[in-house]
Amino acid sequence: MKAGISSIGIYIPPLYLSHDDLADARDIPRDKYKIGLGNINMAIVPPWDDPVTMAANAAKMAMEAAGVEKDEIGLLIVSTETGVDQSKPVSSFVHGLLGIGRRSRVYEIKHACYGGTVAIMNAVNWVRSQHHRGKKALVITTDIAKYGLNTAGEPTQGAGAVAFIISDETEFMHFLPSMNAFYSNDVHDFWRPNGYATPMVDGKYSIQCYLDALEFCSHDLQDNLMQETGKHLLDFVDYFIYHLPFTKMAKKAHTKMLATLRPELNEEQIAAIYEADYADKIQPALTGSQQVGNIYTGSVYMCLLSLLESKQEELENKNIGIFSYGSGCGAEFLISHVGRGLQQQLQKLNFRKQIDRRIKISMDEYAAIYGDKDQAAALQMGMELQDADPFSRFIFTGIKEHKRQYVKTGSH
Ligand code: COA
Repeated sequence: MKAGISSIGIYIPPLYLSHDDLADARDIPRDKYKIGLGNINMAIVPPWDDPVTMAANAAKMAMEAAGVEKDEIGLLIVSTETGVDQSKPVSSFVHGLLGIGRRSRVYEIKHACYGGTVAIMNAVNWVRSQHHRGKKALVITTDIAKYGLNTAGEPTQGAGAVAFIISDETEFMHFLPSMNAFYSNDVHDFWRPNGYATPMVDGKYSIQCYLDALEFCSHDLQDNLMQETGKHLLDFVDYFIYHLPFTKMAKKAHTKMLATLRPELNEEQIAAIYEADYADKIQPALTGSQQVGNIYTGSVYMCLLSLLESKQEELENKNIGIFSYGSGCGAEFLISHVGRGLQQQLQKLNFRKQIDRRIKISMDEYAAIYGDKDQAAALQMGMELQDADPFSRFIFTGIKEHKRQYVKTGSH
């Protein structure tokens, strides 16, 4: 039974900070961020957005793109590592804001940046198991990647949500069954203890854990594929996308994958293949990461959107390898197949338009937002700005009696 993505929505917050401004303020050479990390701008979350509004905004777009009504949703899973409550899941807030019916299973999943893939696979298996009784699943990844000021992680911040309708009506994109490769290991590469607003991260170790997971999964995926199809992974898959905590990770990851699967080649030969692949196969997937930054659970899927928007109908009938990694750690390498209907999807997605609509903020404004200063004034600004923002349908308006408050906004 086919099961896969029948529609995608994305929401990127309306503010951004340029990496050049951040580099100047931190007295770091601009090229370290631009070339060393590969980042250009990063999304900044205004006080009127949070993981809930971002999730609901992305979901609304995914539902509208597919013409899916709220009563058609039987399963809603939100994956996040920036939950807003220790007990009440983000999915419950989203369930309420979208008005999804009560005859539904609704929950939140956490496994660092890998959680989005776990959520998608749970939904795919729910559809494949036939327990869906004709209903569809809504899966949302939503996160704010917030690191400490003046830390090595600061230029790798970002925020955004990606939403998917998962169903058996998958003209657009489906996952190839029984070919996934998994990896889990108990490590402390990145974690955020209870009560902390920003994570502890051993950045270099985290990159090593990621590459170890990729090497392991590449072998397993290659073996699984060979058993199922008799084909080599590098011949079967047309494009590879990777979880990107920062843009340059794509180079480290692709090089590692190539070196793992082509052990007969030396470092120079692998580097030459990477250079040859870059313009057509790697760069098209990087726009989101360069412009938005890390969105944790949705990062690899923002790469997917960047690739779809860049290559358009060239991708029809192509296989895309998706490598998902989450600290802690868990990883999965899977293969999706692009079918028909890409053009209609992209017209409704407006990913590039969302990036272009954003307002650039100064370092002073960044510091005020980071420190949650002037909340009331900022929320008022949110009420005024949202009317001009066709992508924002829900905003956060503060906390009353320990309960988070949201409103639906504007006429759009
Ligand atoms: N011009 C060009 N490149 C430069 C440069 C300059 N002036 N100065 C430094 N660089 C390059 C370095 O050579 C290095 O490149 P390489 O990785 O290809 O060797 C890169 O910029 C990073 O600089 P470096 O000093 O090695 O690291 P850092 O202390 O800035 O930390 C990270 C980088 C990625 C480890 C850090 O940003 C981090 O911890 N990020 C979070 C990681 C994360 O999110 N992990 C979670 C799950 S995957």
